[in-house]
Amino acid sequence: MTATALLRGRALTKVYGSVTALADADFEVMPGEVRALIGSNGAGKSTLIKLLTGATPATAGTVEVDNQLVETGDPLEMIRRGVACIYQHSNLAPAMTVLDNIFLGRQPTRRFGFVDTKRQRREAQALLQRHGIELDLDAVVATLPTVKQKEVEIMKALALNARVLLMDEPTGWLASADVARLHATIRALKTRGVGIVYISHMLDEIFAVCDTMTVMRDGRVIAESSVADMTRPRLVQLMVGDKLARDSANATLVARRPRGTGEVRLSARDLTRRGAFRDISFDLHAGEILCITGLIGSKRTELLHAIFGSDPFDSGTLKVNGRRVVFRSPAQAMAASVGFVTEDRHREGLMLGLSVTENLVMTTIARFSHMALLDRAGIVAASRRSIADLNIQPPRGDTAVRQLSGGNQQKVLLGKWLNLGPRVLLLDEPTVGVDVGAKAEIYGILRAERDKGAAVLVVSSDLEEVMTIADRIAVMVAGRLQKIHDADRTSMAEIVREIGAAAA
Ligand SMILES: Nc1ncnc2c1ncn2[C@@H]1O[C@H](COP(=O)(O)OP(=O)(O)OP(=O)(O)O)[C@@H](O)[C@H]1O
Ligand SMILES: [Mg+2]
Repeated sequence: MTATALLRGRALTKVYGSVTALADADFEVMPGEVRALIGSNGAGKSTLIKLLTGATPATAGTVEVDNQLVETGDPLEMIRRGVACIYQHSNLAPAMTVLDNIFLGRQPTRRFGFVDTKRQRREAQALLQRHGIELDLDAVVATLPTVKQKEVEIMKALALNARVLLMDEPTGWLASADVARLHATIRALKTRGVGIVYISHMLDEIFAVCDTMTVMRDGRVIAESSVADMTRPRLVQLMVGDKLARDSANATLVARRPRGTGEVRLSARDLTRRGAFRDISFDLHAGEILCITGLIGSKRTELLHAIFGSDPFDSGTLKVNGRRVVFRSPAQAMAASVGFVTEDRHREGLMLGLSVTENLVMTTIARFSHMALLDRAGIVAASRRSIADLNIQPPRGDTAVRQLSGGNQQKVLLGKWLNLGPRVLLLDEPTVGVDVGAKAEIYGILRAERDKGAAVLVVSSDLEEVMTIADRIAVMVAGRLQKIHDADRTSMAEIVREIGAAAA
């Protein structure tokens, strides 16, 4: 007899207005199975997850848990039946302790409604032990590194007796060592019969941790396979189609620009911010892409914020186009033609309630206003151009950004800054959540900006990305910048060693 699927969707369809986000999708996950859900940005992965968690009702189709039909659109019922979800953006209460978070919303009470913390602690400790996870129950969540926060989320799901864990891009901002940790946790859960659905754009991760895969394109399930029977090129081709697969393979062959091709656009000397980074010195030239890589927490993001004026620095000097500057606000940096694509698109980068067009022209609105009149035609034309250049899906300027898939939101954020035509462009993890095809497109766009003479500074933890786009590479370790390498004269192995030596 074959095992019963823990969770199954049949002919699931979701229509939003004129958009069919999901069409006729069949999906199931068995006990102890780690199933990858793969597909380009906007393919319908998150939508499928939302139907399976009850976050939104299906337009058509059914959901079953243990062969029993469940009403769609009822999240509490799905939790009761053991289906839990972990998103890229954590749903934890950051100011509360690990213990409180694990039991948030369902405190085991003694009589008279008092919370029985002793019992909670015992339960939590038993859970940690059973799953081989080490967590300080009294730590405040906000003080934990991201990977630990993910573990808290997993614990929280397990405390609810989850038998199916749905993970929507859980590793978006994790360093590679932390990804390995998360994978170890997943393997442990698997041996206990938990069924796992794993969404990621990182193909390495899929091949490392998953048993089976469901591939989606344009809202449909287009293939199912065991991981063992799938090759990378075949997978890329399934996801993005023939032409793009060729483009992304070719993208790695583009020539690099050796150092010093242009004048110095941005120069930092001994830039220091107490408690963050120290004595940072480098020159960024017109016509080059300089990548700063390193471990999460090495203060690269803090450095970018200090350059951009969204955070102060304590000492050192900064010059843009040869003139000494201290930006007291991002507006001043923008006036000096410095752009910053931030890492946290939800909090800092985008206005989710506004349309794609409004977000795209936000940085350049002054160009379209003449004596209190708005040049609407100009705005629409600029927006159309960005949508086409970045292949934003759906290709409509009036869609609210909230309604775009994660990867397409990232493209809007990029488009917003590219419209400014900055002479210095700072980017923090620019392709997190972006699919393989779109990554290649974005690399092409960054190279085009470089070739037009922009000075591009990219912070990235994705070494493959760094090796692909960088003209020069520097590693940041605990707030200090190591030596800057010409990309042509170094190797991934050397960079990994530099990062690793620092950690030891
Ligand atoms: N609330 C909504 N209203 C309208 N359209 C939506 C809504 N949510 C999603 N969509 C659309 O449904 C489609 C599928 O989106 P979904 O978020 O499922 O993609 P995804 O596969 O998760 O992509 P990504 O890899 O970028 O996260 C997209 O075209 C998206 O714009
Ligand atoms: Mg998604």
